[in-house]
Amino acid sequence: MQVFVILVWLSVASAEFAHDMAHVEDFIQQKKYLLKKKYRPMYHISAPVGWLNDPNGFIYFKRQYHIFYQYHPYNGAWGPIHWGHVVSDNLVDWSFNPPALVPKDHYDRYGCLSGSAVVHNSYLTLFYTGNVLANNKTSQTQNVAISADGTIFQKYLYNPVVRDAPYGNTDFRNPKVWRFRNTWYMLVGTSKAQQACLLLYTSSDLFTWKLNGTIAKSYGDMGYMWENPDIFEMDGFHVLILSVQGIISDSYRFRNLYQTGYVIGKLNYKKAQFEDLEVSSATFNELDFGHDFYAVKTMQSVDGRRLMVAWLGMWDSEYEESHAGWASMLTLVRELTLTRQGKVLMNPVSEILELRTEVLEDAWYSPGEAFNAGTRAFEMIVNSSTISYDAALTLEWNGDRQYTISYMADTGVVSVDRGGVDGLRKADWRPVNHIHWRVFVDYSSIEVFCGAGEVVFSSRIYPKKSIRIRIGGDMQLHITQYKLRRSIGYDNKMQKHLKTHVVNRFK
Ligand SMILES: *[C@@H]1O[C@H](CO)[C@@H](O)[C@H](O)[C@H]1NC(C)=O
Ligand SMILES: *[C@@H]1O[C@H](CO)[C@@H](O)[C@H](O)[C@H]1NC(C)=O
Ligand SMILES: *[C@@H]1O[C@H](CO)[C@@H](O)[C@H](O)[C@H]1NC(C)=O
Repeated sequence: MQVFVILVWLSVASAEFAHDMAHVEDFIQQKKYLLKKKYRPMYHISAPVGWLNDPNGFIYFKRQYHIFYQYHPYNGAWGPIHWGHVVSDNLVDWSFNPPALVPKDHYDRYGCLSGSAVVHNSYLTLFYTGNVLANNKTSQTQNVAISADGTIFQKYLYNPVVRDAPYGNTDFRNPKVWRFRNTWYMLVGTSKAQQACLLLYTSSDLFTWKLNGTIAKSYGDMGYMWENPDIFEMDGFHVLILSVQGIISDSYRFRNLYQTGYVIGKLNYKKAQFEDLEVSSATFNELDFGHDFYAVKTMQSVDGRRLMVAWLGMWDSEYEESHAGWASMLTLVRELTLTRQGKVLMNPVSEILELRTEVLEDAWYSPGEAFNAGTRAFEMIVNSSTISYDAALTLEWNGDRQYTISYMADTGVVSVDRGGVDGLRKADWRPVNHIHWRVFVDYSSIEVFCGAGEVVFSSRIYPKKSIRIRIGGDMQLHITQYKLRRSIGYDNKMQKHLKTHVVNRFK
């Protein structure tokens, strides 16, 4: 391993690596004004230019949080995917780093697809899927890239590290790597006879991998493909998170094209089995009930919290902002906790409080009353004093009701409706004592956290101008509204550092 690392770092000085630096130079050229594009969020991570989808390799390295993301810099649509990269000291203020991975090698020419990251021997190691298209056939392999400084990544000379999907299926992607005792484990999603399954590989050095077994699979009602597996231990259980393709919607469950959710169980490492609960549509719970939520990545913070981030988007839908040369964003970073009943709760990380700049509203409102939001980047805390009556809150723009949050007291259901075709999303919700909604709006997104985080809705919205908040339902609501500040941007110090230390060195 040590010898390998030295070899890699010697190759850093080669002409080929200097050629690689084009993406860093492009990055240095990008101008700040690009951040001010139409619908662009102020405190959610979006790409500096171009398209973004899944978050990747969420990790802590050299005293910073790192989030990578699926990134197509050349326009506002999906294309040969890079890994974009942002870093933060506090989980709130994020600055752009140069793209970490560029699809230009024979095993990843058509894209560096989603994966994960680990830290080992003070190197940040990325695992990703190389996508290749030849003779109209996709082929997917698992690959490695490493970095000593957390900024410039070098692909492993002997990629791919996992070549062949055991069932011959071309869908074979999204490695999730972690360590348990002295072994490295990797989960990869694939498909066998049109049924999704999840493979476990093991390694002692991160570079040679051996298939250990199929830890879980669909028995007919869990779709044809599981993307973006994530797994972690919490309170003595394993929480297995999957993004499922091909699940059938059932009343108000599974309304989106694809579903991201979890199953609670126990990973038996010896038998290579996810146990106790079979992965089925009965044991699989959606994490978020909004229209736009996919591809969860989690990590453990320094103080032991389980943090997650996801794509605030969905496949096969229209991104109005694409015309402005960018598309899509990630969710706020959230903390996951587990109830005694085995339910995962999601809440924004406490650091989010640092975004508040001023209190815009703080009063009780009666049904029918309304006020102007005054900004398109804000947080609202909405409380009632009882749960005996219906409650509703509507966001209006263009003189129309456009997005409504409702609670129906007699059925114990909370819903959001963003209008249009299939605009309604619902979930069972039994609040204790009073209604509590925490709502985050950021230009073209809305996230609604209900109660202690039992139900969350994340969706895209497209308010063109100012937003008006109208109180509906049958009871008074107390609303505190905060203006939130910009927290995503370029870091001038980082740009200067790259210019003087990285690019010039290889000229
Ligand atoms: C690939 O598929 C497209 C569309 O199905 C077809 O037009 C084209 O001829 C195919 N190319 C090859 C090399 O098979
Ligand atoms: C899977 O890994 C475990 C733990 O390293 C080992 O005990 C077991 O024998 C492996 N199974 C297979 C089929 O390789
Ligand atoms: C609203 O409800 C939350 C959760 O119960 C509580 O912590 C908060 O203090 C309440 N805020 C107001 C202004 O009543």
